Amino acid sequence: MKAPIQLETDRLRLTAPTAADAGEMFARYASDPDVTRYMAWPRHRSVIDTQEFLAFSDAEWQRWPAGPYVIRGRSDGRLLGSTGLAFERAGEASTGYVLAKDAWGLGYATEALHAMVDLARRLHMARLYAICHHEHRASAHVLEKCGFTRDASWSRLVRFPNLAVDAPQPVLCYERVFDAAATH
Ligand SMILES: CC(C)(COP(=O)(O)OP(=O)(O)OC[C@H]1O[C@@H](n2cnc3c(N)ncnc32)[C@H](O)[C@@H]1OP(=O)(O)O)[C@@H](O)C(=O)NCCC(=O)NCCS
Repeated sequence: MKAPIQLETDRLRLTAPTAADAGEMFARYASDPDVTRYMAWPRHRSVIDTQEFLAFSDAEWQRWPAGPYVIRGRSDGRLLGSTGLAFERAGEASTGYVLAKDAWGLGYATEALHAMVDLARRLHMARLYAICHHEHRASAHVLEKCGFTRDASWSRLVRFPNLAVDAPQPVLCYERVFDAAATH
């Protein structure tokens, strides 16, 4: 089953990214040092980096039931950030969210993550998970608000390319496990 390329929530419109989004994605969040601080990918230095991400996104959508989504405001179409599902195997994906700074603190990450949970259910997935830096309380709180619980048995060190420290950092893993037998 393939995910819809457009989803709507109360305030947000989520769409599979297209080449036309590159300039806005780069300017609104992908090049911002504050926004990308805790991201696992290097901050974009030029729009070429963003275009490379969009080529990756197209490949993800070709290969898997879903991929990245651009987040826009429903009322004005303004680009706010991105989210999505990153599949590793059938039935299991990781998710994440990144928002432009002027879109923080408005509940958008929680609203977008709820949409990813609903989508995971509709796709009959078994597990959705997310990892975050151990000090990133805002992100952990978004996950907790959306019913994710910490997988305490999981412990990893990950290098964060946009942090000043070079040493790999502890990360937390949060998950939602779905009842595969349930009718969605
Ligand atoms: C982290 C991020 C996604 C949060 O987005 P957001 O839309 O502001 O999140 P929401 O408003 O939905 O929810 C944030 C929650 O965390 C809380 N919060 C914010 N900062 C916090 C902090 N330092 N400690 C604890 N809780 C915090 C907020 O109060 C809110 O909870 P509440 O609704 O109970 O009041 C956003 O700041 C962002 O895009 N940051 C840069 C990218 C990033 O780090 N992504 C996550 C990578 S794992």
